[in-house]
Amino acid sequence: DKKPRPSPHSHNRWHRPLRPPPPTIYSPRPHPPTLTPWGLPSSPIAILSYTPPSTAANSAKPTVVAFLARHGLHHQYAPHEIPNRANVAALKKLGVKSVVGFSAVGSLREEVKPRDFCVAGGVVDWTKGVRPWTFFEGGMVGHVSMADPFDGQLSDAIYKAISRPGVLEGENLKVHNGNTVICIEGPQFSTRNESLMYRSFATEPPISCINMSAVPECKLFREAEIAYASILMSTDYDSWHSTNEGVSVEMVMGHMVANGENAKRAVAAVLEELSKDEERQVVQAQRWYKKSRGGVMGL
Ligand code: ADE
Repeated sequence: DKKPRPSPHSHNRWHRPLRPPPPTIYSPRPHPPTLTPWGLPSSPIAILSYTPPSTAANSAKPTVVAFLARHGLHHQYAPHEIPNRANVAALKKLGVKSVVGFSAVGSLREEVKPRDFCVAGGVVDWTKGVRPWTFFEGGMVGHVSMADPFDGQLSDAIYKAISRPGVLEGENLKVHNGNTVICIEGPQFSTRNESLMYRSFATEPPISCINMSAVPECKLFREAEIAYASILMSTDYDSWHSTNEGVSVEMVMGHMVANGENAKRAVAAVLEELSKDEERQVVQAQRWYKKSRGGVMGL
């Protein structure tokens, strides 16, 4: 009459009754929660298979895609609460080779209008060091290059895919490339003084986007030797803009709905582009593997 041991997943953190369950299911085959040494990822990981339209070049082999909701299925994790190490480790455990992150951003430049899309090119880390940001600690010491936090090949493929006329919908919508994003701690938006200060930073190219999730994601994916790129979806002009009363959640959410529809179109276009070169993901992973092996010490 031994009591059955509770499953490690019985506390199912993403099923906390904080919000009513969402009306849609992400996938007919959600992956069971993946326990990692850093805990559970923020959501079950949906595994989907994408079969591109058949052409002689790709012979229509399916691409396997894993989807993870970084803020949780009920958007219950604030940016500073996201279990980033568990998310990255869970994807690594599944064999994921490249990751395309989607992120809502504020715009720090006039030319990046709300609802525009950007492909990130660089990062300024303005988080406060409260989020665990490395796998290399507790006796395992390693150093990786963060000079170029986003994978160039993956980012180029994304820009090519989503900037094709007709892929994203919206009046005067523009797709930008190589944007520098500053990542703040949040969850509050920036003060007007901070917003103006970020605009004045002398980076090249100048900071044009602001979000709360680029860091430590980009650092952990680099340490995990997974190619990473980021699609930034503009929702507001932050608080620097003269026509602004400051950022509000309502303003952000309004544009997020429109961006969500375009994000789905972007996913399809990116998958189609990547599946043209079915070796691409593997090649990238190997590239980072080789590169970072040189820079990792003490493993
Ligand atoms: N995400 C969307 N808009 C933002 C802003 N203005 N600042 C930080 N993160 C954001």
